[in-house]
Amino acid sequence: MAQVVIKDSPYNLKKAKILDIKPLTDKEKLFKLVFEDHTWLDFEPGQFIMVSLMGIGEIPVSICSSPLNRHYFEICVRAVGKVTNSLHKLNVGDIIGVRGPYGNGFPIKIIEGHDLLIIAGGLGLAPLRSLILYAIDNRRDFGEIHILFGCKTPGELLFEDEIEEWGKRLDIHFACTVDRADPDWKGNVGLITSLIPGVDIDPLRTYAAVVGPPVMYKFVIKELLAKGLPVDQILLSFERHMKCGMGKCGRCQIQNLYCCKDGPVFTFKEIMDMAEAL
Ligand SMILES: Cc1cc2nc3c(=O)[nH]c(=O)nc-3n(C[C@H](O)[C@H](O)[C@H](O)COP(=O)(O)OP(=O)(O)OC[C@H]3O[C@@H](n4cnc5c(N)ncnc54)[C@H](O)[C@@H]3O)c2cc1C
Ligand code: FES
Repeated sequence: MAQVVIKDSPYNLKKAKILDIKPLTDKEKLFKLVFEDHTWLDFEPGQFIMVSLMGIGEIPVSICSSPLNRHYFEICVRAVGKVTNSLHKLNVGDIIGVRGPYGNGFPIKIIEGHDLLIIAGGLGLAPLRSLILYAIDNRRDFGEIHILFGCKTPGELLFEDEIEEWGKRLDIHFACTVDRADPDWKGNVGLITSLIPGVDIDPLRTYAAVVGPPVMYKFVIKELLAKGLPVDQILLSFERHMKCGMGKCGRCQIQNLYCCKDGPVFTFKEIMDMAEAL
């Protein structure tokens, strides 16, 4: 049967070729991608794409590279189920389907000129890496930059080389912690919330960008409020089950908000009265 392609349909997939695959941990791989038609992906930090494997399924994945990189884009994928495990089995040169970018991303134009407090739990570093790389590329447009990263064990550290670089930079305050150390670990031990009281910020000048596992948000928000951050300067990116990725199916709804279209980034002010959001 001939394939019917409706021109300009938002569901149209573009073919993306895998240029490189880098294992980051036992569960996460970094995929470097390029569109076969040599166009580039125009996106904002915090936006996501729908990644499609023919005959297997389609999933939302955050873009984790800098939007200023016109040569390729990257996604960091944790193998958890059907599509993600299949993606992990692919090789360099294989083709996947991509549509998007979708979602609002972080409000860069509003954040610029302010201090930035980035709080990443585990795989939450993937979407935040895009924001971090953007801020580094435009360092003069931001004030102080604080990055806090936490994961369960040292073996789950993502982007280790980059983390080391961020830790060495004099224009970035970087701190990392693990919930459970191993004998070789020399850094902080404790939940990511334990790092927040020690961060020296001017709350009125600071935007916090928070991404991590669902359990993290309530405790991180409590610490940020205790520091005096205004509710509209706390930015949270949410994960919800998604089908269409563009506000049509209702799968990702939080009350009157579509996580895929109105989010995935929300201010705490927007969702603070919606119990199910957190
Ligand atoms: C906006 C957004 C950005 C995301 N960014 C990334 C990313 O950068 N890297 C990454 O590895 N993953 C990301 N995810 C999660 C990713 O979409 C899911 O892991 C994926 O859909 C699982 O598909 P699967 O077929 O492999 O697993 P399935 O076989 O469908 O399910 C395996 C397990 O994963 C859970 N799961 C499935 N879909 C989701 C979902 N959307 N959110 C949370 N849990 C889910 C299921 O409940 C089940 O427990 C993102 C999700 C959203 C909504
Ligand atoms: S995923 Fe369909 S409306 Fe959000």
